[in-house]
Amino acid sequence: MKVLVTGGAGYIGSITAAELVQAGHAVVVFDNLYQGHRAAVHPDAAFIEGDLRDTDAVKRLFQEHKGIDGIMHFASFTLVGESMEQPLMYLRDNVIAGSNLLEQAAAHNVGRFILSSTANLFDDPQTMPIEPDDRIVPGSPYGESKFFLERLLHWFERIYGMRYACLRYFNAAGDTANRGEDHDPETHLIPIVLQVALGQRDKVIIFGDDYPTNDGTCVRDYVHVVDLAQAHMLALENIQDIGSRKYNLGNGNGFSVLEVINAARKVTGHAIPLEVGPRRPGDPAVLIASSTNIREELGWEPRYPDLEQIVSSAWEWHSAHPHGYAK
Ligand SMILES: NC(=O)c1ccc[n+]([C@@H]2O[C@H](COP(=O)([O-])OP(=O)(O)OC[C@H]3O[C@@H](n4cnc5c(N)ncnc54)[C@H](O)[C@@H]3O)[C@@H](O)[C@H]2O)c1
Repeated sequence: MKVLVTGGAGYIGSITAAELVQAGHAVVVFDNLYQGHRAAVHPDAAFIEGDLRDTDAVKRLFQEHKGIDGIMHFASFTLVGESMEQPLMYLRDNVIAGSNLLEQAAAHNVGRFILSSTANLFDDPQTMPIEPDDRIVPGSPYGESKFFLERLLHWFERIYGMRYACLRYFNAAGDTANRGEDHDPETHLIPIVLQVALGQRDKVIIFGDDYPTNDGTCVRDYVHVVDLAQAHMLALENIQDIGSRKYNLGNGNGFSVLEVINAARKVTGHAIPLEVGPRRPGDPAVLIASSTNIREELGWEPRYPDLEQIVSSAWEWHSAHPHGYAK
């Protein structure tokens, strides 16, 4: 298939684009390099530097790359905290970017659309693990922008027949030998912990250790980025047959912040000092995905469910690229 990957120079998008290329698909990457890295784009993928908020640039993209069969839409502003400070970056820009893309996708009869959605749709979970059909309460303007894109897809299917999958990732983690997580600022736990091991930070701050969990720290569902990539490919290949779907993607095994730090201590051999700070407002104690429906319907099976494997793969990339793609 010919697949357009927006945000394909970013963390999850670049690794998924590489997996697509390896699986024999023709890949076109569109990214404004706001957080992405040119060096992360697989050499066999076509690369266009451009911004999805720019209507003309998106039109040109589809004129110059005819015959796109499917789209994987990773490009987005992605930070919950930032969205609480600058809501319109999310409620306006993320929505305009996605709308421009969908407008051209429909105009060019693209039949398959895979959206990077988020666990932040479920701010007030009633039960754990969280099922895809559980009550949606976006936890921030970021989550709301993703929910709005999910609703746009609902209508684009009704009106234009576009099949879609909304993949709500919980915590993407891990790297491959050639591509890894390199954000500025870095907000994700595993790369931050590894920065301590690399001597780039003195310590890790834990936001609260008095949650109702085994060790008092928050529990999250870490899913390896290569497993996410596989879920995208399975969805792309199957939605025409099985219909549009919403899947929550996680291991189903939660790991606490302390467990992540202990895994990193073991993998890196570094003591990784920590300090306990206050809780962050709005952080739920536990967030775990139920991925039963994608396992049953598409046979998705995470290949890297083990925490130490996930942290090791991240350490391999970060220790080989201590300054990210700059080095
Ligand atoms: N990382 C996670 O744990 C996680 C969890 C849930 C959902 N997601 C979602 O997955 C997707 C990918 O996340 P990531 O961690 O790889 O983020 P990322 O920032 O590494 O990748 C996003 C890419 O999109 C590009 N981009 C942003 N706005 C753009 C625009 N207007 N036009 C063109 N390109 C643009 C950026 O330059 C970047 O390369 C995002 O949509 C994010 O919201 C991520």
